[in-house]
Amino acid sequence: MHIRHRPRKRGGTDGKYRWLYGTLRASSCPVNARERFLAATASLPVERTPLWIMRQAGRYLPEYRALRESRSFAEMIHTPELAAEVTLQPVRRFGFDAAIVFSDIMAVPEAMGVPYQIVEGTGVVTGRTIASKADAEGLCADPDLVRERLSYVAEALRLSRRELGTQTALLGFAGSPWTLACYLAEGRGAKNGAFTKVLALSREAPDAFDLLMEKLTAAVATHLAFQIEAGADAVQIFDSWAAAAPAELYGELSLKWIGKIVAALPKNVPAILFAKDAPCPPATLAATGVQVVSLSDSLNLRAAAERLPASIAVQGNLSPALPDGDPEAAYAATRALLASMKGRAGHILNLGHGIHPQARLESVAAIVAAARDFS
Ligand code: CP3
Repeated sequence: MHIRHRPRKRGGTDGKYRWLYGTLRASSCPVNARERFLAATASLPVERTPLWIMRQAGRYLPEYRALRESRSFAEMIHTPELAAEVTLQPVRRFGFDAAIVFSDIMAVPEAMGVPYQIVEGTGVVTGRTIASKADAEGLCADPDLVRERLSYVAEALRLSRRELGTQTALLGFAGSPWTLACYLAEGRGAKNGAFTKVLALSREAPDAFDLLMEKLTAAVATHLAFQIEAGADAVQIFDSWAAAAPAELYGELSLKWIGKIVAALPKNVPAILFAKDAPCPPATLAATGVQVVSLSDSLNLRAAAERLPASIAVQGNLSPALPDGDPEAAYAATRALLASMKGRAGHILNLGHGIHPQARLESVAAIVAAARDFS
């Protein structure tokens, strides 16, 4: 049981909390979005499947593009009031069950001393590359400094929580050490995830690779704990470039470090692992200690869930292209996924990867409607 007990503020919520602890029938008791989300992370039955969408705060939203018109991405994420506003935009429009703080996985390397830019058409470009032990030695992983430099993220979470209250779940996140190391060794994004320099570093300079991974692991753990203190109900670890690791080395190169991070998190806060197209079975991802594994649409979600312990929840896994198409198809595909998951507690509806900038608002609305209508 991973649900954090919060003291009741007012009377009359007894039933609600008893339900959350799994002692009442799910269907008999209305609950709010946050409770629904947290119950699903704990694989408890819910009256309907909760949903949010990866990259829900972003360019497919006209209200995001309007804010972004006169500001850089960097300004938006470094200004807590703007970041909180963007965090809340998709929840206001669609009523998602969870908000995810508007930030970026590259915020942690930046706090460690590596500046970055998002370049139109290229993606991430870092101000330094890590190619040697001396380079890794130059990275800062001091917890006090990391917290101080990432205080804008904590402030964005606090401001977001102020508006969400206890009605809607709030997620913090970080990139996995492996995925961050991919960017730091390469110095930039790689076409189709073909990160070669990080692998060369791990083979040719294992001391440098280990030091880099130790520092990233420490800084990511610090940042996730910091986000939880600032009000995050759950955290998601993005191992977006899991597939850049050879299958036989994935455990050593990535999962080992994720396991250390999960072990350092408070036990009562659920962790979600999104390891895109990971070269291992979902059960191996769950063995890191996370409560939820987020799966891409290359897998059949029900079949994957059946091969996991009942205590592990799954997240996903509609095609990220689904919201690009028409609303009828989005509604039907969402219904079909929910029908396939019927009777399996512990499902958070999401896409298999981030929503595209060209997604259609009415198709996102159709996914939300399908989740609401299905029971
Ligand atoms: O999910 C959310 O809505 C919260 C915000 C969020 C962003 N990035 C905002 C963003 C989250 C969770 C991320 C995570 C992230 N960032 C990942 C892991 C998720 C994944 O997709 O696998 C990665 C790999 C990054 C690094 C990154 N940041 C890239 C590759 C890019 C360029 C993407 C592109 O298509 O141009 C970014 C920029 C970025 N991060 C944008 C947003 C909304 C677009 C910025 C803009 O131009 O307005």
